[in-house]
Amino acid sequence: MAIVSSKPSNPSDDRNDRPATAAATTTTDPQADPTLLTASETDADRDPAQPDETLRPQSLADYTGQKDLKAVLEIAIGAAKARSESLDHILLYGPPGLGKTTMALILATEMNVGCKITTAPALERPRDIVGLLVNLQPGDILFIDEIHRLNRVAEEILYPAMEDRRIDVTIGKGSSARTRSIALEPFTLVGATTKAGSLTAPLRARFGLVQRLRFYEVDELTAIVTRTAALLETPIDADGSAEIARRSRGTPRIANRLLKRVRDYSQVKVDGTITLEIARTALELFEVDPMGLDWTDRRLLSMAIEQFNGGPVGLETLAAATGEDAQTIEEVYEPYLLQIGYLARTHRGRVATPSAWRHLGYTPPIAPAQKSQLSLTLDPDSSTSNPIDEVN
Ligand SMILES: Nc1ncnc2c1ncn2[C@@H]1O[C@H](COP(=O)(O)OP(=O)(O)OP(=O)(O)O)[C@@H](O)[C@H]1O
Ligand SMILES: [Mg+2]
Repeated sequence: MAIVSSKPSNPSDDRNDRPATAAATTTTDPQADPTLLTASETDADRDPAQPDETLRPQSLADYTGQKDLKAVLEIAIGAAKARSESLDHILLYGPPGLGKTTMALILATEMNVGCKITTAPALERPRDIVGLLVNLQPGDILFIDEIHRLNRVAEEILYPAMEDRRIDVTIGKGSSARTRSIALEPFTLVGATTKAGSLTAPLRARFGLVQRLRFYEVDELTAIVTRTAALLETPIDADGSAEIARRSRGTPRIANRLLKRVRDYSQVKVDGTITLEIARTALELFEVDPMGLDWTDRRLLSMAIEQFNGGPVGLETLAAATGEDAQTIEEVYEPYLLQIGYLARTHRGRVATPSAWRHLGYTPPIAPAQKSQLSLTLDPDSSTSNPIDEVN
């Protein structure tokens, strides 16, 4: 069962305890949740020799980027503290690796409260969630990862817990069954999801704050790479950090992962400071291209281009053609390709955009509107010649 209590026994040890708390989150049983993330996002990133947890920022001030989110949360924290209340329930959503779990742990640190961490697929039976809720200490944060995967029974237990701080349990069976209300301590539910759209409306409506995490800018990722390199005691110069940042798909987890791979390369091949040249050579070796696309990204796009003439192609068809899981494509690969404008979503399916064609070395087809424009420009009198052939 993937439930971890992090409430420190001595409140003064709270901050010191936090990294250990965070480390405990990775004990989540992968068997209980085989689709938590793709292998590329978990195993490779969570290097056992250097657990991700030691790299997590511990305070809001240390948390790079996400300015809007931080501004909103700073106000919420300040107001809750001033009123000596617990924070309102918060839903954090966005693609994997952008810092949702990190932020939940920081919220607990900033509020100086305990944090219980679980993931929705671990809350299979009603007693799982009931046990968690009744054991919360005043002000605790309950962090539920992948909250869109909560089952209906667990959700219905959460509704009154979130709204009225009580749960209703049925005792006994048949005609002697009675419903009893159990009062709960004030608590904050922090939910994280990569698919906010899959949350049911009643659950979503019970969060006081619904916040999206966005992809990071290159300068923000450069700062993150520099910070991680210092924690790993790896010498790197500014251009080296920026090169890794540019190829990190706007995602801190990927930035940290690429840094570790470049560090390996640098250690073995040159044994010196990571420079632009070293970062570039190493990342090319690991097949991470200048836009940060890896082998799978390129395969998805080239499949759409070669087999479906750029699309539209349905998600399931694309999944079958590439051998990738549809959910993984949708949650892990697609968001960044949409963000950089290499993929577009239409009601008929996914379309590889002209920038994607060009990035992969293909010549994009000319759209019908452009064709007629060209035909007018190149040969205004002729209705039979085909100027497109000349252009192509
Ligand atoms: N703002 C940030 N500043 C510095 N490092 C960060 C930041 N956000 C995330 N990281 C780093 O990226 C890693 C991944 O972050 P985190 O686990 O919080 O992502 P997540 O959004 O919860 O991902 P998932 O959806 O996969 O659970 C962390 O270990 C941390 O080191
Ligand atoms: Mg997480």
